[in-house]
Amino acid sequence: MNIILFGSPGSGKGTQAKMLGEHFYLRKISLGDILREEVKKDNEIGRQVKKYMEQGVLVPDELVSHIIEDNIDVKSSDNHLGHRGIILDGFPRNLSQARVLEGILNKGGQTVDTFIYLDIDEKTIIDRLSKRRVCKQCGANYHLDTMPPRCQNVCDTCDGELIQRNDDKPSVIKKRREVFLEESKKLLDFYAQKDKLLAIDGRGTKEEVFDRIKNELQPKITYEK
Ligand code: AP5
Ligand code: MG
Repeated sequence: MNIILFGSPGSGKGTQAKMLGEHFYLRKISLGDILREEVKKDNEIGRQVKKYMEQGVLVPDELVSHIIEDNIDVKSSDNHLGHRGIILDGFPRNLSQARVLEGILNKGGQTVDTFIYLDIDEKTIIDRLSKRRVCKQCGANYHLDTMPPRCQNVCDTCDGELIQRNDDKPSVIKKRREVFLEESKKLLDFYAQKDKLLAIDGRGTKEEVFDRIKNELQPKITYEK
């Protein structure tokens, strides 16, 4: 079972990827998180990646394709720690990345099963991103109103400091949103033509969104959990 989560910045991809991964035994691969780890290393690749992320534009395909290939590892994705496939958050984001992904999966005799589009309105996006806080240490996500930490500015899991992501400044959010709107139509058409597109209403609580996706995916699951 290989699933893609696609949607605007702030649509809830990271939140749902975690919940779905745990529920359906899928290995979560979040490209944004992987890129942020590269930036932390402060090596040549990390410095290049940082430049693009800070502007809210896509990191060039050549760079992310290698990174995703190393992380997908099709041969082990089915059985790695009992996983029954992968859930991709933030890849692909354009047609050329979709083709790269097909190539990687095909090598292992696999394919994309479902492309989930989290559909969400602009006002909700701005609220979610401006009130998001992330743990500097473990990357856990919070929202000041809907998913607040137990203690102010402290991560519930690891006691790390909670900060605002660099690209959650209003001007960068605007740019990320523009990039998303430019690329989304072609990608949605690509997967709709393959009959793999599943559009989900991304509004409501994270549990409500999760239940919507779960109810759609459950009948397609062929493995024992
Ligand atoms: P990435 O980190 O993937 O950012 P993004 O796509 O802009 O999406 P976000 O992580 O901001 O939002 P999300 O949809 O995950 O929402 P979340 O669950 O956190 O990418 C960052 C950058 O990396 C890109 O701009 C680009 O530069 C680069 N990059 C990444 N992938 C790339 C690629 N393929 N090619 C090239 N470059 C790439 O939720 C948001 C907030 O809302 C949180 O606070 C959360 O707690 C809260 N929340 C979530 N769901 C709910 C809910 N149902 N109700 C209430 N609150 C909720
Ligand atoms: Mg995310």
